[in-house]
Amino acid sequence: MAEPFFSLAGKVAIVTGGGQGIGEAICRRLAAAGAKVSIFDMAPEGANRVAAELKGYAGIGDVTNEADVFRVVAETEKALGPVDIIVNNAGITGRTVKLWELKKEEFSKVMDVNVIGPFLLCKAVMPGMLERKYGRIVSIASVAGKEGNPTMSPYSASKAAVIALTKSLAKEVAGQGDITVNAISPAVIQTPILDGVAATTVQYMVSKIPMGRTGKPEEVAALVHFLASGDSSFTTGQCYDISGGRSTY
Ligand SMILES: NC(=O)c1ccc[n+]([C@@H]2O[C@H](COP(=O)([O-])OP(=O)(O)OC[C@H]3O[C@@H](n4cnc5c(N)ncnc54)[C@H](O)[C@@H]3O)[C@@H](O)[C@H]2O)c1
Repeated sequence: MAEPFFSLAGKVAIVTGGGQGIGEAICRRLAAAGAKVSIFDMAPEGANRVAAELKGYAGIGDVTNEADVFRVVAETEKALGPVDIIVNNAGITGRTVKLWELKKEEFSKVMDVNVIGPFLLCKAVMPGMLERKYGRIVSIASVAGKEGNPTMSPYSASKAAVIALTKSLAKEVAGQGDITVNAISPAVIQTPILDGVAATTVQYMVSKIPMGRTGKPEEVAALVHFLASGDSSFTTGQCYDISGGRSTY
């Protein structure tokens, strides 16, 4: 029998921030398509729960810590095999206040998790992907990185950086086997991340969406699945929109 479309049978995926929210939905979707999933999260409870349910691996660590990142990649390869897919999903919003009310450390923290984290994981897995001439990298940016949300200046700047990092790396590895690097930009999605965002900011974000609702983690996971599959082999250096019509470019 022919393999189903978008099959991930036998593939190994690392999903950062996979212990809850969008990351958890991505883990479930990739596992349902046949992937062996490593849940890389700093919060052990969620990572262990999802790993147990999906018979995957829980890699506990902080994506901003280079030693943690290299350790989790090594542990994953020992437990599940060489890494074919990474999803840079762990992210934080930072405090939702006007730019001039932020401390330098608060701005840096958001850049650290949202940009340095993906940089470190890409750095850790790319030599292996180049050697095996196969890889899929998907990073979760945000519509904030294209439009700039008020009271979310570090977040918006960090997500614009994720889009640019994606485009640069994609070109560095294009044509060296079947390795693709893409980003996606969701509008507001119903997850626990919204607990830390001011209600007025959430209202602002929903009001910008022509479909008039928040997105679901499962809807994001479906797009990630396509980009993580072998079927997306002529698609690289792109940022895909998933915003209920909010993005205009
Ligand atoms: N929810 C939205 O509205 C929305 C919209 C656009 C983009 N995004 C992006 O999607 C991604 C996931 O968002 P979510 O809403 O599911 O978030 P969430 O807060 O529900 O989950 C984030 C997960 O990342 C983990 N994490 C945070 N910092 C980490 C670190 N330093 N190291 C390891 N793990 C860490 C947390 O423990 C948590 O499990 C983020 O990058 C976010 O910016 C979310």
